[in-house]
Amino acid sequence: MSEELELRVVHYPEPVLRKLADDVEAFDDELRETVKGMFERMYADKGVGLAAPQVGIGRRILVINQTGDAKNKDEELALINIRITDRSGAKVRAEEGCLSFPGIYAEIERPDRCKLSAFDPDGNPLELELDGFLSRIAQHEYDHLEGVLLVDRMTPADKLGNRAALEELVEDYRERRKKLARKPS
Ligand code: CO
Repeated sequence: MSEELELRVVHYPEPVLRKLADDVEAFDDELRETVKGMFERMYADKGVGLAAPQVGIGRRILVINQTGDAKNKDEELALINIRITDRSGAKVRAEEGCLSFPGIYAEIERPDRCKLSAFDPDGNPLELELDGFLSRIAQHEYDHLEGVLLVDRMTPADKLGNRAALEELVEDYRERRKKLARKPS
C-alpha cells in the first residue's frame, strides 16, 4: 500500500536534508495536498512527525501526530513556516529515531518546553506552548528545516554505537547515485 503513495522519505545523507528550508509563500490547494500526502507517508512509515525536506521538498512544513495513529485526527498538527521562539525547562534525554535514519536510535538531550509560532495550512496564525513528548517531536522536526539531523545531536558514544548502520546508509546513497548516473536521461 505504501508504494502507491506519491511522497517518499529520503534517507541520510541525501543533500536535501542539509538545506535550510524556505518559507511557504502560498496557502493554496497545492500546500494542502502536500500536507495530506505528508500525513499519509508519516502514518505509512509509522512515524509521529515528518518534515518536508524528508520528502524532498525544501519548504518549512511539518506534520505531527504524537499518537502515530491516523484515527486520532484531533492529535494532528500541520505547522507551516514554523519558528521556535523560545526553549526552556529542564534538559531531558530520551531516545529518538528518524524516518531518514532507518533502524538508528539515539539518546538526544533537549529542553523540555518550547514556544512556537506557525500557520495552519489555511494561513491562520498559531502560537503554541509545548512540553514533553510533543515538544520533543516539534524540536526534532524543526531541526530538519534547519538542516540539522539526528547524527549531529548524538553523543559520541551513540555515534560510535551506530557507526556501522550510518556507514551502511552512506554506502546505500553512493549505490543509488551510481545507478542514477548509469541511467540514460
Ligand atoms: Co527526523
